[in-house]
Amino acid sequence: MSVKPNKKPKTNLVHAGRYPHDNHGVVNPPVYHASTILQPSLDAFEAARKPDWTGYRYGRRGTPTTRSFEEAVAAIYGADGCVAVSSGLAAVTNGILACVKPGDHILMTDNVYGPARNFANGFLDKFGIETTFFDPLIGSDIKTLFNDNTVAVYTEAPGSQTFEVSDIPAIADAAHEIGAVVLMDNTWASALYFDAFNKGVDIVIEAVTKYICGHSDVMMGVIVANQDWSDATREMAQMHGNVSGPDDLYLAQRGLRTMAVRMEQNQENGIKLATWLEGRPEVKRVLHPALKSDPGYHIWKRDFKGASGLFSFVLNDGYSRSALAAMLDGLELYGMGASWGGFESLIIPAGPQDYRTATSWDEKGQLLRVHAGLEDIDDLITDLGAGLDRLTAIASI
Ligand SMILES: Cc1ncc(COP(=O)(O)O)c(C=O)c1O
Repeated sequence: MSVKPNKKPKTNLVHAGRYPHDNHGVVNPPVYHASTILQPSLDAFEAARKPDWTGYRYGRRGTPTTRSFEEAVAAIYGADGCVAVSSGLAAVTNGILACVKPGDHILMTDNVYGPARNFANGFLDKFGIETTFFDPLIGSDIKTLFNDNTVAVYTEAPGSQTFEVSDIPAIADAAHEIGAVVLMDNTWASALYFDAFNKGVDIVIEAVTKYICGHSDVMMGVIVANQDWSDATREMAQMHGNVSGPDDLYLAQRGLRTMAVRMEQNQENGIKLATWLEGRPEVKRVLHPALKSDPGYHIWKRDFKGASGLFSFVLNDGYSRSALAAMLDGLELYGMGASWGGFESLIIPAGPQDYRTATSWDEKGQLLRVHAGLEDIDDLITDLGAGLDRLTAIASI
């Protein structure tokens, strides 16, 4: 590590994984484009073949560019290891595969990121690994779902689209009693706002694509783990040949350095927007765990150190599709796009009623997911306010 390992996450964000004086004083690490890596002698060639992850022997196994990014992410999580893979979804799939074999049973939260559900239903199932989805609010009652062959519990908090906050420490304690491993998709809060390993999580998954990159121009994921799982997760990703390219690693590392200040602004804008939306007559409910009105507020307050800029709200029932189109199509500052965590604001419609299986989503009104970007909050409110005015104007024609 480039700074003594006693620093706080924000300091690690700035310094970890950088060694300027090994590189002519240049602040950012160099970008190594490599497939072939030459060894100077037979001794060195044989030494590079040893079964560990030090040294460099082949581009796919990582270069100094890979390792400096991985070292920085491991440092902000205070974890032993991190493996960078080609997308957040690749982190989900390789993280799970590192823990299971045919005949095993896993538990997965019902508000999980959609493609993780598809992986469980479409891939794990095909290879004889059974998944049971659970109510995100189940807490320690998760033990009622354990079977003799339950090996892993897959969590995400707050969950995708609906933002219920699971009691991760209670779920982890129950899982550990039967020796099951706890995985968590921590993309929403990232290391800065959820100290996953101290809350009982064994394997963290994060879509780097979102806040770490922060500029909507990289697809990447990380699987972060302590000693007990770091080799298994790296080996799984390697067996799939799942790696990140050098330029993406560089961009992700550059994003990482400013993540703390960006996320503070995303958080502030998100809370202000959500609070303002609560006062709008068109809005039935706002789903944002940092609002006191949210059912997840107390667990969020207890376990999280902050909120990202991603939340949802539900419109009153009865608005037509054309009213919704008038609202969304006319927005100036909110893009209609699925990824999030960048500098820009976004809004998309979503339909949790279409995929839930362990719980039902009973709201009749349209759910809209918002990402609060880094724009001036007054402009964000004015633009969304005008959108809601258009919604009402069409609805009343
Ligand atoms: C919570 C969450 N996890 C994982 C992912 C997957 O990341 P990627 O798009 O990099 O595959 C996403 C993407 O939207 C996400 O929202």
